[in-house]
Amino acid sequence: MGERRTVLAPTEGIDLMDEIVVHGGRPLHGVMPINGSKNAALPIMAAALLTTDTTVLHKSPRLRDVETMAQILRALGVSVDWAGPQTLKLGGAASGVTAPLDLVSQMRGSICVLGPLLATRGSAVLPLPGGCVLGKRPIDLHIKGLRALGAKIRVRKSCIYAHARRLRGARVNLAGPHGSTVLGTANVMMAAALAEGQTVIEEAACEPETQDLAHFLNACGARVSGAGTRTVTVDGVECLHGVEYSIIPDRIEAGTFLAAVAAAGGAVTLEGARPEHMRANIEVLERMGVEIRAHGDALVVARSETLKPVEFATAPYPGIPTDIHPQISVLLCLAEGSSTVHEGVYPRRFTYVSELNRMGARISHRGAIAAFQGVRALRGAAVHAPDLRTGAALVLAGLAAHGRTVITGVDQIDRGHQALEQRLRSVGADINRRQSEAAGYPARKSA
Ligand code: EPU
Repeated sequence: MGERRTVLAPTEGIDLMDEIVVHGGRPLHGVMPINGSKNAALPIMAAALLTTDTTVLHKSPRLRDVETMAQILRALGVSVDWAGPQTLKLGGAASGVTAPLDLVSQMRGSICVLGPLLATRGSAVLPLPGGCVLGKRPIDLHIKGLRALGAKIRVRKSCIYAHARRLRGARVNLAGPHGSTVLGTANVMMAAALAEGQTVIEEAACEPETQDLAHFLNACGARVSGAGTRTVTVDGVECLHGVEYSIIPDRIEAGTFLAAVAAAGGAVTLEGARPEHMRANIEVLERMGVEIRAHGDALVVARSETLKPVEFATAPYPGIPTDIHPQISVLLCLAEGSSTVHEGVYPRRFTYVSELNRMGARISHRGAIAAFQGVRALRGAAVHAPDLRTGAALVLAGLAAHGRTVITGVDQIDRGHQALEQRLRSVGADINRRQSEAAGYPARKSA
């Protein structure tokens, strides 16, 4: 009898991965609603651990990172369900103190279950989120803050073991080498909400997402004051209750769309964008010649003239956000003259340089500084997104480039942008998603 052969369908046995294909050169026109903020939603979801009541979160963005956080919370005994297209219902916190490695390793944001677990269950076991494509991302400030409240924490074999009989309020300074820490401030704020007595966080992060967490906690009965300033005071309470809450709009998503219109040309209305959260971002684009004006509850962005070169540095809020650095860099590639960017939060956030140079850009980078020599046009190429924000930047470069750009690593883009290609198509971009054979790129983690 002859050897039995298995006949594979053309795609069977092969990893299929999404890629995005952009044909550049089409200006964008129309209206785009801005989704709820990823980086506000993640700690607020973790804060659901602080109460056994039901919490309803409106304007929750439907993203991969949000799904990952939902799975982590389910593993910790919280029920998490979509109760509407953008509404999450969380509740019934039970028991469990160990967050699963496979989920935690997908996302740095998972660190923000540490504070709530300590405050309510007295212990937490969490795999170390580790370094990533943005460079070293230590958690020493999280540990320092929680230790100040009385937690015993040790890190062994890439795992955090934390324990606390009763957390007690304290004074803690969260200044780090690159400013404060956003999720570190969130962790201490959440733990302090149920600690005995008063906690004063000096050099706290001022980001709108940190302020949103404080508003959420207060709506649940916490006593947090000073959020949005460098000094946050938390007076501990006995318990928190459930609440219905709306997450703020995503300022990084809005900034990405501002940059998209600046790259492709045209005029787009961004519904629900909050200019008061985006002052530094708007100001640097205006210096480049991008026209941006507030119109009721929306921002209208247009670009007709050639882009001007600029110099800028990223910094913690209220500075220019590091998370918008790669997207604005695409514009600097096309500006008339030389520009410079100093990265003030992640000195190694330059993964976009090689990919944009592949598209004809002229960028050199040394230490935390990138230098750009503007070119007349970018040309389409095959490029790879190693992280979320570089992925978004490559899409923007594709919109501006001559010819076809194929972007792999789309799973990174999906972590922070819901159906990016559909939304850009709705304002006139020629952009599609398709499946292709896996190119063997390693999975990366960040954010
Ligand atoms: N840092 C320390 N020690 C710490 C913590 C941070 O030295 O214990 C350093 C970091 O290495 C970095 C700086 O402090 O140089 C700021 O890091 P931060 O802790 O503020 O970052 P994060 O809270 O882990 C959040 C966002 C990031 C965003 C940063 C800065 C979420 C889920 N992530 O991270 O978002 O870049 O704040 O604004 O909120 C993204 O969305 O793409 C993303 C990376």
